[in-house]
Amino acid sequence: MSTLIIIGAQWGDEGKGKVVDLLSERAEVVVRYAGGPNAGHTLVVGDDKIVLRLTPSGVLHGHTQCVLGQGMVINPAVLIEEMDTLTERRLSVDDRIFLSDRAHLILPYHVTIDSLREESKEGTKIGTTKRGIGPCYEDKVGRRGLRTGDLRNLDHARDRIAEALATWSATVEALGGQLPSVDEVMAPLEAQAKRLVPFITETSTLLEQWARGGKRIMLEGAQGTLLDIDHGTYPYVTSSSAVSGGACTGAGIGPSRIDRVVGITKAYTTRVGEGPFPTELDDADGQHLRDAGHEYGSVTGRPRRTGWLDLAALRYARRVNGLDALALTKLDVLSGMKELKVCVAYRTSTHEHDAVPVGDFFDAEPIYETLPGWTDDITACRRIEDLPANAQRYLAFITEKTELPIDIVSVGPRRSETIIRRDAFDG
Ligand code: IMP
Repeated sequence: MSTLIIIGAQWGDEGKGKVVDLLSERAEVVVRYAGGPNAGHTLVVGDDKIVLRLTPSGVLHGHTQCVLGQGMVINPAVLIEEMDTLTERRLSVDDRIFLSDRAHLILPYHVTIDSLREESKEGTKIGTTKRGIGPCYEDKVGRRGLRTGDLRNLDHARDRIAEALATWSATVEALGGQLPSVDEVMAPLEAQAKRLVPFITETSTLLEQWARGGKRIMLEGAQGTLLDIDHGTYPYVTSSSAVSGGACTGAGIGPSRIDRVVGITKAYTTRVGEGPFPTELDDADGQHLRDAGHEYGSVTGRPRRTGWLDLAALRYARRVNGLDALALTKLDVLSGMKELKVCVAYRTSTHEHDAVPVGDFFDAEPIYETLPGWTDDITACRRIEDLPANAQRYLAFITEKTELPIDIVSVGPRRSETIIRRDAFDG
């Protein structure tokens, strides 16, 4: 077993950072393949909390090589700041961070446009992270984007930026904003190029060599299945391919190389931003989940919307990602709740659906089953058998309804507060 994809099975923020960090103990290469600084993986290491926005979580293990793949969008200022923070913590970045020459660059005007749109009264409000993600991917698909490899030729970069600014000017004017000049964009970029060019390479070639050499490679998803541009709750999605298929295009690795796909899910559900969320709770239970689970966005600080676990959505995630197993996080947050509701299907005006009904999702009513809760603190449990009977029952119910084994159960924020049933790298 050498190549593994770890994917968010819900709306992002499933606790991928902790799981990836744990699995990185055995991974030799960790790759991010989609999204950009809209992600914020919070890692607790000892008493220290670290939030990584661009660098794969595996960077905290000194032995891993870290790749930022071509499916990503990179804000050069954010990446440089993150590399400086890692260096301050004595985590070396030289010869360990490899940046794809094909990843697209988020430039200041992307951030401006994203914010202007979100603050405008016109159009659909998505509740984005305002990090310039959507406009950057729009430039990519519109074939006027700037790629990291273009930083090697700044005259060429200048021409591309001029083209993009000309295209955006009418939109920005209509939104009441102002675009920077080409010179204003180029000035910081020239300095950033000097810093980043040594890290830029054809990462797909490296991955091929490492895969052939039998290295253990982990492809780390960002955001989550229901935020995927194709498979998510469109238009309330991010602009990248967050599902497992995106790992192949976003890292430049063929599907035949993938050995296992693990979906990360919380023991309940959260979402930030706008869009449908059938199991959302607006009551004391929802507030309890927010408080006990510290459910505030790690990038924007926004309170996350909270709700019951949605197994119909997880079955959908199983299908579109080809999941082999689940890793379940934050089971401890449910401790103390008397009863736990779990969505097993949806009812719409026309049908009952056992997975996300794409066309009908907006009026989907959850159909719940209710399971008994538990009161004991479970953070010291290290085996499934140590968990209270009702917690074991909750896990067995998830497996029964999703037909997926649960490889990992997280019972607290620390690395050690984890039950590992099966190491994902074991065949
Ligand atoms: P964008 O990716 O900033 O364009 O935001 C689009 C939608 O995806 C918004 O609802 C965001 O809140 C959501 N989103 C983007 N990144 C993340 C993430 O890492 N975790 C959770 N939600 C995210």
